[in-house]
Amino acid sequence: MKVLIWQTDSIPGKFKVEISLSSPNQKVSEAKISITKLCLNNKTSLLYRASLNGLKFDATYRYKVFLDEKVLTESTFNTRSKNQNTRFAVLGDCGAGTLQQAQIANQIYQSKPEFVLITGDNVYQRGLENEYRKNFFPYYNAAEANPEVGAPLMRSIPFYLLIGNHDVFGADLDKTPDGLAYFYYSDLPLNGPIPESVIEPTGAPELVKAFKANTKPRYPKISNYSFDQGNVHIACLDANSYTNPLDPNPIQWLAEDLRNSKGDWKIVTYHHPGFNSSKAHYDYQYMRLLSPIFEQLGVDLVLTGHVHNYQRSVPLTFDPKKNEAGTQYVITEEGHVDGKFTLDEVYDGVTNTKPKGIIYIVSGAGGAPLYDSSISGNPELWKHEPPENWVPFTKKLVSDINSFTLIETEGKKLTLKQLDTQGVAFDQIIMTK
Ligand SMILES: [Fe+2]
Repeated sequence: MKVLIWQTDSIPGKFKVEISLSSPNQKVSEAKISITKLCLNNKTSLLYRASLNGLKFDATYRYKVFLDEKVLTESTFNTRSKNQNTRFAVLGDCGAGTLQQAQIANQIYQSKPEFVLITGDNVYQRGLENEYRKNFFPYYNAAEANPEVGAPLMRSIPFYLLIGNHDVFGADLDKTPDGLAYFYYSDLPLNGPIPESVIEPTGAPELVKAFKANTKPRYPKISNYSFDQGNVHIACLDANSYTNPLDPNPIQWLAEDLRNSKGDWKIVTYHHPGFNSSKAHYDYQYMRLLSPIFEQLGVDLVLTGHVHNYQRSVPLTFDPKKNEAGTQYVITEEGHVDGKFTLDEVYDGVTNTKPKGIIYIVSGAGGAPLYDSSISGNPELWKHEPPENWVPFTKKLVSDINSFTLIETEGKKLTLKQLDTQGVAFDQIIMTK
């Protein structure tokens, strides 16, 4: 199923969505439309959702949106593929309303991905409805591709979003009645677990009640989910500070999800990186605790954001330190997780392409101002102490340019490139099985 979403002011209109296979003389059918009335910040708007059901895999469809009898917009989209390949773009920390964000949107469009994955912090500063309208949709659903404006991506390809820390900063609905807009706009798979703690909206009971009614069934389900595209399986996790990385529910769900996956490539993605050599956010290392589980489940690649730069690790395994009794992992007061690293120094991504361990990527340079630009490209400046906490696990760190990741698979070969705002690849690796 695909869901087409649009929002208008409070004047109701008679909308209609027609859909057909894009080849000539195909039967046209009409999509079912639902309407949610939002009253946020004393402003009423209508959020429309057209559910496009019964679609075939590997097909191209054309749709038209009518207001009364007038065609407002039309476009095409491809459905999910069952082929043994795919191509997708990854970026994080992007909706900041910058020129670099527009340039990256334009370059993503030029690279013709089948979908876009955003590793969280989708809009700044607080994940509000009015921030999506200002800093998100105009860039990724621009009328035409233009490096100063953005590109017409969202009308034709799906965006899979993750929930980052900025996306939950607006959870106090008394202060920001249009907070947690992630749950208004994202029609993501509802196949995830319910963790022991999720983001909880607070504030006047009537605001919380309206939020829950208007985001049903998405809140809080879409905090964690997974999907397939081509031969890639991607599991998306909420790593915010209110979560417990060792919460048994999401772990059990992840284990079953990855074991049941038939994809050649297993990817896990979340916002807060466990392995990061930047100074920024160095102390938030909780997601390292999941490394042994990822290794057991055959994860190939982990994609994160949060730190506003690009980092690629060598393939690694990590065994977190336990207390003396061997019953619990040790987390220091600063949020550090020490342990034993094993680095695969033989893998080079060019001639030696079979990694022994997981490659961890930070792709957080999607548009917001960059972090630690002075350490870019200089491994001497990436060091941290002590060796139980940091070893030279970072192979590439570029922090002085905005960028995004492009991943392509062809059967058992995966190519990962990092491209700048001009579309120039400044890092590239191949992984094979
Ligand atoms: Fe963040």
